[in-house]
Amino acid sequence: MDTHQFIPKSLVNNTTKLSFTWKTPSNIALVKYWGKTEPQIPKNASISFTLSNCHTITTIDFTLKSTSEANNNEINFELFFEGKKKQDFKPKIAKFFERILEYCPYLIAYNMVIHSENSFPHSSGIASSASGMSAIAMCLMSLEKSLSPIELTDEFINKKASFLARLGSGSASRSIEGPLVVWGQHPAIKGSSDVFGVPFPYEVHEVFKNYHDAILLVDKGEKQVSSTVGHNLMHNHPYAKQRFEQAHDNLFKLKSVFKEGNLNEFIAIVESEALTLHAMMMTSMPYFILMKPNTMEIINKIWNFRKETGLHLCFTLDAGANVHLLYPEKEAEDIFKFINTELVAYCQNGHYICDRIGFGAKKVK
Ligand code: PMV
Repeated sequence: MDTHQFIPKSLVNNTTKLSFTWKTPSNIALVKYWGKTEPQIPKNASISFTLSNCHTITTIDFTLKSTSEANNNEINFELFFEGKKKQDFKPKIAKFFERILEYCPYLIAYNMVIHSENSFPHSSGIASSASGMSAIAMCLMSLEKSLSPIELTDEFINKKASFLARLGSGSASRSIEGPLVVWGQHPAIKGSSDVFGVPFPYEVHEVFKNYHDAILLVDKGEKQVSSTVGHNLMHNHPYAKQRFEQAHDNLFKLKSVFKEGNLNEFIAIVESEALTLHAMMMTSMPYFILMKPNTMEIINKIWNFRKETGLHLCFTLDAGANVHLLYPEKEAEDIFKFINTELVAYCQNGHYICDRIGFGAKKVK
């Protein structure tokens, strides 16, 4: 893969102060990414719905360094999360900046002050790395656009932002555009790449427009297994090879599902993907169970509800206990009633988040 295209040829670093704000969404994978090789190359292609309400808003203030400051070649930034200085988030961002320095040489020309906030509660068990890293990547691309002597197209900006975000957190590569994004090279998806996400380039049936995702917060604690540890568990995993093949096949199948609007097939693939992700964790060494008793209660309730009503409510899971409920707009009313009467009881403090499919990063004035 040609990553040289992302190294800027010449830049004019003479603007002393610049500031950009971006709002970027979280996403929920339908075919999951679990397992990677260096540098953040996925073992299989994945596809996700971009979300809308779960997002991060990040502002980066850039101030040009003095010549003596610039000479030490250090990346210098301050980080504020929800208005407060956040030292414990700094190492992850510092590592991210070091990884992308080759592609963003302007990182050492400016002092940066980063202000970030999430629309969802911090300790909700919802991963903020996808929206967080993609927001930083978009701010950097706005800076690059201002410094570039040649006009950068929106297509290039999105592609490079996804490329950069990926180096911060793999799934963040799918948080730049929407409503469906593929990351990872796959023969059925034209233009797909291991190094950036691309919008799903084919016909999508009406039934998937405005698709809902209600996120039931079953366990708001810190993640039991970090994704870095989790991905590493796929090295030498006894079922890894079959798993990567299965994901590959599921993406083939989803392509026709999206065209035809076959919701039953959609449900079968999406739920199987979620349970396989957890099965991989249960069968790794060391092994983990990330579902909680209430996760299981919710899954059984969904299955009974579907049997009784014929409605197309299904679930997917991240690497945690929270449950994402996916359902079409035209069935939303009945399903929403069911969530409120039957499922809320299984959420921590009755908390859940109503979200739906979204369209990607937005610049904030
Ligand atoms: O982006 P990471 O390294 O946090 O990995 C995310 C992995 C899953 O959320 C479990 C699946 C996915 O494809 O988003």
